[in-house]
Amino acid sequence: MNLPDLNEAKKRNNEKVEFLYVDPVKSDKFSNRTYYIKTYGCQMNVHDSEEISGILENLGFTKTEEMEDADLVILNTCAIRENAHDKLFGFLGICKHIKAERKDRPLTVCLCGCMAQEPVVIEKIKNTYKCVDLIFGTHNIHELPNYLLNLSGNMDIEVKSNEGNVFEVGEVYKRDSNISAWVNIMYGCNKFCTYCIVPYTRGKERSRKSSDILREVNCLKEKGYKEVTLLGQNVNAYGTDNDEEISFAELLESVAKTGIERIRFVTSHPWNFTDEMINVIAKYDNIMPYIHLPLQSGSNSILKLMGRRYTKEEYKELYDKLKSTIPNVAITTDIIVGFPNETDSDFKDTMDMVDYCKYDGAYTFIYSPRVGTPAAKMKDSVPMEVKEERLQELNKLVNKYSLMNNKKLLNKKVKVLLSGISEKDSNKLYGYTDTMKLVNVECDKSLIGTIQEVTIIDAKSFSLDGVIK
Ligand code: 5AD
Ligand code: SF4
Repeated sequence: MNLPDLNEAKKRNNEKVEFLYVDPVKSDKFSNRTYYIKTYGCQMNVHDSEEISGILENLGFTKTEEMEDADLVILNTCAIRENAHDKLFGFLGICKHIKAERKDRPLTVCLCGCMAQEPVVIEKIKNTYKCVDLIFGTHNIHELPNYLLNLSGNMDIEVKSNEGNVFEVGEVYKRDSNISAWVNIMYGCNKFCTYCIVPYTRGKERSRKSSDILREVNCLKEKGYKEVTLLGQNVNAYGTDNDEEISFAELLESVAKTGIERIRFVTSHPWNFTDEMINVIAKYDNIMPYIHLPLQSGSNSILKLMGRRYTKEEYKELYDKLKSTIPNVAITTDIIVGFPNETDSDFKDTMDMVDYCKYDGAYTFIYSPRVGTPAAKMKDSVPMEVKEERLQELNKLVNKYSLMNNKKLLNKKVKVLLSGISEKDSNKLYGYTDTMKLVNVECDKSLIGTIQEVTIIDAKSFSLDGVIK
């Protein structure tokens, strides 16, 4: 049994990162068994679920989309806000019920992801959700075969709170798409923004070797993938943890030179976004002109309390440089309202920044205190109703600019990577422009996986309609 420990998790002693190459574990021990995987949260988790699925299929499991049919349920959790917690506990309630009712065959329930790294969560599960068979953390996914092959029958808890290493797992991933692929370039975060739990749940910043990343991208290209998304909590910091490694700008350039058709990256912190990066993005046609640049707040005093390391003036300067150097760049953002003691005037600064940046899109959140982070200890005098009103007002403004930017594309031709059948209308395909705008296109299904010139005929806040002609 290994329990999580937040004090251990926040240490940054500069332990040397080990690069460990993991061979896949193959077995038919679980053939005829099915697994159901539920993923909460960010792209990092989505990609971790692809790794978990690959591991399970190597052990003989087959995937089911119906939880009621499954022999094994995996809950890959997110800790970023309280509502992610609430959703998980609701789901565990269903698992508990199925486990109690189902007499013909056992159900194994596993929990992993960021919530597994939180001591408060583990305590609650130990006390209230005894239906859980296995809990493992974000640092030891590759150990899953061992854990499943040796389940004790009690609740096994295997969570590590170390700074973290780099595990190279080869092409174990069971990828959700054969068109667009996620590629991790680094793990963890050292920024410790005062509201954020991620540096505690994901360990320190550590970069994969560029040679391993490039091998993966080349292999994806050979398999016919059209797009890669380079993943990290803060990709700008790529390479800074290892003197022998290249910078993010150099990595991006090397990935562009592989000739894969589309490249994007998430997420960039505004703090160390270099000119070199901007120039590389502008230089290569296969690097998508799309940047997710979290603002969080437009108020200098709130940015300071958040520990964000930039002022609104510095953010604007970077924004202007991006807009003037990268033709037709689309910029999206993340914004938190209701940080402890945010005043009307602080909120107005945020609205002013949205007016200035006219974002193509924004993810907006009400601040949610996370146990163990510095902001959770701050006194907060802002009532929840005020926070909710601010969120609504902000969303209105954000949607206005999304619509405005989308309308600029009316009657224009854009290139769309057609990714699959539209959820809303099975006669249409959906895809994304190189600026990550969702387009629904009435066209032949055989075009899935191709990039097509599409004329935009309608524009809404969250999507576009187009035709091929
Ligand atoms: N409360 C609300 N939103 C948060 N985020 C991160 N931590 C919190 C929190 N405690 C938001 C940030 C981040 C995005 C992934 O989630 O905006 O960029
Ligand atoms: Fe969280 Fe800040 Fe790191 Fe992003 S940069 S993961 S918001 S601590």
